[in-house]
Amino acid sequence: MRKIIVEGGKLLEGDIYVQGSKNSSLGVIVASLLCKERVVIQNVAKIQDVLDLLDILKTLNVKVEYIANVVIIDSRNITYNKLTNQLVKNFRASYYFMGIMLSLFNKCEIYSPGGCNLGDRPIDMHLDAFSSLGVEITCREDVYYMKAKKCLNNKIRFRQKSVGATINTLLYVSSLNKEIVLDNISIEPEVMQVIETLRLMGVEIYVDNDSCKVIGRNNKHGFMISIIPDRIEAGTYALIAAAVGSKVKIHQINIDHLSYLLDLFNLMNVKYEFTKNSLTVYQSDDLRGVEIETSPYPGFPTDLQQPLTSLLIKANGRSSIKENIYKDRTAHIVELNKMGADIKIDNNTYYIEGNKKLHGANLSGKDLRGGASLVLASLLCEERCVIEGLKYIERGYFNLIDNLNRLGANIRIYEED
Ligand code: EPU
Repeated sequence: MRKIIVEGGKLLEGDIYVQGSKNSSLGVIVASLLCKERVVIQNVAKIQDVLDLLDILKTLNVKVEYIANVVIIDSRNITYNKLTNQLVKNFRASYYFMGIMLSLFNKCEIYSPGGCNLGDRPIDMHLDAFSSLGVEITCREDVYYMKAKKCLNNKIRFRQKSVGATINTLLYVSSLNKEIVLDNISIEPEVMQVIETLRLMGVEIYVDNDSCKVIGRNNKHGFMISIIPDRIEAGTYALIAAAVGSKVKIHQINIDHLSYLLDLFNLMNVKYEFTKNSLTVYQSDDLRGVEIETSPYPGFPTDLQQPLTSLLIKANGRSSIKENIYKDRTAHIVELNKMGADIKIDNNTYYIEGNKKLHGANLSGKDLRGGASLVLASLLCEERCVIEGLKYIERGYFNLIDNLNRLGANIRIYEED
């Protein structure tokens, strides 16, 4: 097992370059299978979730080239296959193959998806949407069997906002030869990029606030697209910089996707400057505690809740975070308390006492963003911390450790038998 050793207490300074968005890459790559022409996708980060996804494509006889950060996909010879191998269990976005296989082959046999353990993560809205579009679904021993029948419905209203259910349904209806309206869709930038991808293939999609009208199409054409910057990666580095940076400039971002972060920084008294494509965070020793809650875009994202929890240990006074998306996204909290933090959970609200001095500890990262939050806390701590769970961090951050070391951190990776 690989662990990381963090000798914290150092001030970080320098430049960071953000990669293409994980969640956008996953959606766009799967969507590209809908066309029978060559597709070029730029700015794709070499993270484990993407590598696992590309491995699944190979099991479907799709030709994939991955040169530098460019993925070239040729799915002209795609063949139907069951999706009941371990790769499907490795990451969450494998559920997009439901929408794709139904679109391409009118059937699908697939494991329920894997992904980070954030508590209960149902996919009932995906299944309900498919059912009301005429798909017959049964589930036995963790495998979904789906068969597309005649679609008599032309309107879906999602019970609550869901990135995955929105994209999965879009993937399916993009091949139906009728007009379908989706209401209460997610409007995360990653969803909007999948919509842009489908449009580039010739699907007509008209978005109005959180509704859209889709007019599907059979023959879709090839395209070239560049993945948007990863706003969660950018946000993670910004929160690390607010904790232990003296001056950190984060490049290759889209500032329009980070307004919730700037709002947070204003509340917390974090000093920063920005341009359209960069954010510079300065040393901030007088951080104010905040009361904040997570919500769908453009609200504060659940994916930054865990790193923010760690930053708030350094703020003055008591802070609270209400987690509205995943009520059990709490695995980091017990670990932070091991380091001397004082964080209490009451239902889905976390109360964080500020100004706590952390001490060294052996920590266990159990999910992607939780792992990042432990790295942030370890950088704040002036004693040695050992963190296990690097494999989770690598699912979504490219070279996090090297990037932090380049800023002056002292983090080593070591292999333990
Ligand atoms: N939900 C349901 N039923 C469903 C689907 C979702 O009850 O059928 C609930 C979820 O339990 C959650 C809420 O709806 O309470 C929103 O979940 P959503 O469906 O939006 O999550 P997701 O699509 O599975 C994506 C990202 C997550 C990110 C969430 C929320 C991908 C591959 N994953 O997950 O990313 O946390 O949206 O923004 O796009 C991460 O990158 O660390 C990560 C977990």
